[in-house]
Amino acid sequence: MTTPDGLGHTVRVGQLAAPPVESAAGAAAPRAVPGAAPSTAPTAGASGLGGVPQPPSSPVPAALAHAAAGPRYWLAQQPVEAPAVAAPTTPPSTPPSGFNVEAVRRDFPQLHREVNGRPLVWLDNGATTLKPRQVVEAVAEHYSMGTSNVHRGAHSLAKQATQVYEEGRQAAADLLGTQDQGEIVFVRGTTEAVNLVAQSWGRANLGVGDEILVSAAEHHSNLVPWQLIAAERRARIRPIPLLPDGQLDQDAYRDLLGSRTKLVALTHASNVLGTVPPVAEMTALAHRYGAKVLIDGAQAVSHFPVDVTALDADFYAFSGHKIFAPTGIGVLFGKRELLEAMPPWQGGGNMIDSVSFTETTYAPIPHRLEAGTGHIAGVAGLRAALHYLAGLDRAAATAYEEQLTNYAMAALATVPGLRLIGQAPGKIGALTFLVAGTDPIALAGALDQQGIAVRAGHHCAQPALASFGLQSAVRASLALYNTVQDVDALVAALHELQSQ
Ligand code: ALA
Repeated sequence: MTTPDGLGHTVRVGQLAAPPVESAAGAAAPRAVPGAAPSTAPTAGASGLGGVPQPPSSPVPAALAHAAAGPRYWLAQQPVEAPAVAAPTTPPSTPPSGFNVEAVRRDFPQLHREVNGRPLVWLDNGATTLKPRQVVEAVAEHYSMGTSNVHRGAHSLAKQATQVYEEGRQAAADLLGTQDQGEIVFVRGTTEAVNLVAQSWGRANLGVGDEILVSAAEHHSNLVPWQLIAAERRARIRPIPLLPDGQLDQDAYRDLLGSRTKLVALTHASNVLGTVPPVAEMTALAHRYGAKVLIDGAQAVSHFPVDVTALDADFYAFSGHKIFAPTGIGVLFGKRELLEAMPPWQGGGNMIDSVSFTETTYAPIPHRLEAGTGHIAGVAGLRAALHYLAGLDRAAATAYEEQLTNYAMAALATVPGLRLIGQAPGKIGALTFLVAGTDPIALAGALDQQGIAVRAGHHCAQPALASFGLQSAVRASLALYNTVQDVDALVAALHELQSQ
């Protein structure tokens, strides 16, 4: 059966595969959720949607409408049935060795407050992560004792602030696996990073009929900047469709690639589906056609180690606030030769070499792309956050999060009428769901009354939800400081709400 998906393109139907459920010891054994009834798989389908809004009938955006001319892929019009997930029988009460979640939790003051008279259960990490005291102290230290501008002064505090700032750049280079600090550009966040590449690299390199492949899982920040520059340069956006479990359709991707492909925009971890696409393989394929690849790492960097050199990424972006650092600071990585060839985007102080009315010359990268005074306190906080993360056993933290995600998926499957959106193998803990008969916003409000913070709405990823025939859903998103108890609190609250 074939149907359009509301995006002007269509998506292939694939078989849903139940994700493996791993026990704490790593064996593929089912586990129990305390107090939860044995699971039957939640049924999906139209009856499972309750009050959830149905697929949008809005017009296809102009830049996406081009896709209708390309290969056509198909998505089931009825919501895809959630795969059966076995009820857990043994909760993973012992965290993996080498990762002490309770010690980490002690560093995050906000985890120890109450909301609505209940202990806070923070499951909105996809929106922003909490900050460890080390980050709070670094920002406070900058403002209380270390305030100065950077790169401009001969005095001691300017030198000290500049040192902290450039150590922040080194920490970002270390996080991403590049030896070259010049490849690290400070920006406000992932959104600004993508806009910078689109407006600078895109304006210089895109022309009439060129194609930009954008996965249907992208956050709006890795789609709308491309729509803007595509409209200006008369280039075309072509969506890479999704399979029913939330994976990117690799057959479709191979079909879409061609001599016109100039850029591929990919998430490294979907904020709504949790999917972690095979970006290294997809990048290698894109490079065969001479296309560049921008990877949105906003939801990836806090969950697993990243190596842009191994990925051979041309551009990679992340936001500080999603990796335990302040808001308003982020990083764009770009390969040196690409950044050096990019025209300045914004003009102003810090980005020039010399200025006159007859000729202005520009500073070397990265400063050429960093006009104006940067977010110095933000970099101080980012430096502290990345040093904090580097001090943890990241392999153990990643393994812990994987186990917690598997546990949460199995536990959520015990809630009657719950439909989980996105079940790709190896997904991060972005757990987006619907509960039959319940409006997502109202459900999030009811959970908030119990101190449980989740996000509800379109998650700034409307095409991703539209691929599943949805406009809105609830999302619980995990971080390395979340626990089995947090998941159990959510699941117990959902059971209770369903029984009312
Ligand atoms: N991009 C953030 C989220 O997914 C805000 O919630």
